[in-house]
Amino acid sequence: MFANYFNKTPMHIFYGKAALIDFLKSIKTNQSTVGFVPTMGALHQGHLSLMQQSMANNNTTVVSIFVNPTQFNNPEDLAKYPRTLDDDLKKINGLSPEIIVYAPPVDDIYDGKPSSQFFDFDGLENQMEGKFRPGHFNGVGTIVKRLFEIVQPTNAYFGEKDFQQLQIVKKMVEKTKLKVNVIGCPIYRETNKLAMSSRNALLSPKEKQEASIIYKTIIESKENFQKFSAKIVTEEVQKAFENNPVFTLEYYQIADEKTLLPCIRKSKNKKYRAFIAVFVNNIRLIDTISLN
Ligand code: PAJ
Repeated sequence: MFANYFNKTPMHIFYGKAALIDFLKSIKTNQSTVGFVPTMGALHQGHLSLMQQSMANNNTTVVSIFVNPTQFNNPEDLAKYPRTLDDDLKKINGLSPEIIVYAPPVDDIYDGKPSSQFFDFDGLENQMEGKFRPGHFNGVGTIVKRLFEIVQPTNAYFGEKDFQQLQIVKKMVEKTKLKVNVIGCPIYRETNKLAMSSRNALLSPKEKQEASIIYKTIIESKENFQKFSAKIVTEEVQKAFENNPVFTLEYYQIADEKTLLPCIRKSKNKKYRAFIAVFVNNIRLIDTISLN
């Protein structure tokens, strides 16, 4: 445990799971609840909004900061992922010095060479992010399950920005019968409506400004979806990115919110959502919006 006695803002930070587990045991009671926010750091207002929701609804909030190697299918992406622990701790402390932080090194999580467990997510893993980032969701399932076992939270908070991840985590909890409520939280956006993301820190100011095209495109597609088929709406989005020298569309997909299967023909009693992944030079950004 680390206490910053100089400015009298004690903050609980743990680098090893054994000490964290002991500490949590010492403060838990039968009635108390633990809220948990797993992150990979490079914290922004989107992450902090999850922490705020956890603090409002639980006696204790735990935040993990761990850049999980097994969910990166691209080694270059892992290498350049922003790591800003000192700043992250300041942000968390600014929100509340009572938040408990777990920031482990890789070998506190993985014994030996990091590797993923294999999961069957009933097909949720085969769409979109799963298709374009092979192995990604086995990595996410592995780390989230591991963190849930360590922290044993009552409630865990995930952003709808990574909507497919949210559904995958819910499925993992259902299948493993872990006792944790998985709660989805709204997307926090920049003033130009770009979804906040740790990867935005890798964009130049110009790229960040121009990346508003992503939200602009999906909000327009939401309007179009009221009148046109999923196929036509998708073609319009593809056209919007054609010949763009900076932004490359990886995918745009309209899918059933529950199964994540692509919408072939609209059905009145289903909820649909649009999912998009775009490269800005080498930086990969994703966004999503509910369509009905
Ligand atoms: P990371 O990308 O750091 O995101 C941590 C959490 O913050 C996720 O639940 C994500 O959906 C949420 N989040 C990110 N941007 C957001 C925004 N603009 N508004 C609201 N919530 C947002 O997602 C991961 O880390 C990892 O995959 C993790 C779950 C920690 C497993 O390694």
